[in-house]
Amino acid sequence: MEIQTETLKEPPDAGKKKVIVDLVKVNKFYGLNHVVKNLNLSIYEKEFLSILGPSGCGKTTILRLIAGFEQATSGEIFVEGQNIKEKEPFQRNVNTVFQSYALFPHMTVYDNIAYGLKMKKVPKDEIRKRVAKAITMVRLEGFDLRYPVQLSGGQKQRVAIARAIINNPRVLLLDEPLGALDMKLRKQMQIELKSLQAYLGITFVYVTHDQEEALTMSDRIAVMNAGILDQCDKPEEIYDRPATRFIADFIGETNLFECVAELEKDGIAYLYCEAGDLLGKSEGYDPNEIVYVSVRPEKMKCSPAAVDGFSLGGIVRENIYLGNIIKTIINLTNGQAIKINTPVGAKIPQAGSVQYVYWDIKDAVMIYTPSVNKIIEQLSATNIPIGQTRV
Ligand SMILES: Nc1ncnc2c1ncn2[C@@H]1O[C@H](COP(=O)(O)OP(=O)(O)OP(=O)(O)O)[C@@H](O)[C@H]1O
Ligand SMILES: [Mg+2]
Repeated sequence: MEIQTETLKEPPDAGKKKVIVDLVKVNKFYGLNHVVKNLNLSIYEKEFLSILGPSGCGKTTILRLIAGFEQATSGEIFVEGQNIKEKEPFQRNVNTVFQSYALFPHMTVYDNIAYGLKMKKVPKDEIRKRVAKAITMVRLEGFDLRYPVQLSGGQKQRVAIARAIINNPRVLLLDEPLGALDMKLRKQMQIELKSLQAYLGITFVYVTHDQEEALTMSDRIAVMNAGILDQCDKPEEIYDRPATRFIADFIGETNLFECVAELEKDGIAYLYCEAGDLLGKSEGYDPNEIVYVSVRPEKMKCSPAAVDGFSLGGIVRENIYLGNIIKTIINLTNGQAIKINTPVGAKIPQAGSVQYVYWDIKDAVMIYTPSVNKIIEQLSATNIPIGQTRV
């Protein structure tokens, strides 16, 4: 069982921002399947927040809970300060864009976008004005009379967005909205969506399992791991300081070492793993505790002789040319494949040669999950109720 102390951080300027969606201790069960686990998440006004995680980790379920298509098993959800239990989905200032677009095939672009307003019996003149504005916003002028079948994937996507923003929602929920598009259009739409969000000034809660998409588009990313929110932070924080082993592995490429702490001296932790000895930052580990060390390929170095404190030897399997970098793969004695990225032009080790890998201590991320006894000790010292710790 993985034990975690609280890793969720408020953004530094949180004090100034207004919370628009607040999930408080939200749990969702489908039968015995615990799909969302004690989720605490505050989403801020005008923020672009991505929910990122592998398939089945609960991303869509969280959107459906906020939209009101599902009820939480326990916990509370507030939108603009109001508990949404008291409101029907259509009464909430929230709208959803689905991956499948869900356009009506027998209706034109204009009628698809106008549909919600017609249902609400908004006067015709106002409908015309608002649809025209929405069409301009998503840059679909001249497409009013086309049917969905006459549109490209990206254009259908824009109709779906126009339809979702027509009611001026404060929050737009987007469930993998670019999933069906090819890579080129996807990249283009990412930029469009990001600038549309800034232009509209509404909060986007954007679900994706594509880490690159989340890193490039988001103000903050909430990373989900099997129903648990592992970390919610700015993209650079998630990349540079992953809070858990799962995130270190899931976001970007990394070299991960499962280590046992030996001793600590002068701010340095002496550690060992299956392949040998290594050094890390000292963060108060007790001897024999498990510590994970994550080193990005661009921070990893190698040398033909062992460097002080490190004894991770191996053989260079290959050098792979990747355009602007060369990726060197070194197989350590325990079989672990180490990846090193070097800019083209810099010196690289020969395939088949013996090399020792090492790094600057400051460049390694230490991932530490304290023992149960230590957590209980810490909690009793700070008077935090034990229920607030994720176990
Ligand atoms: N209506 C439902 N009834 C029962 N189980 C469900 C239901 N909807 C989702 N689940 C289960 O809940 C878990 C989370 O599903 P969810 O759709 O939220 O995942 P996701 O992160 O959106 O995945 P994906 O990236 O594949 O879309 C899965 O195990 C799924 O099978
Ligand atoms: Mg989903």
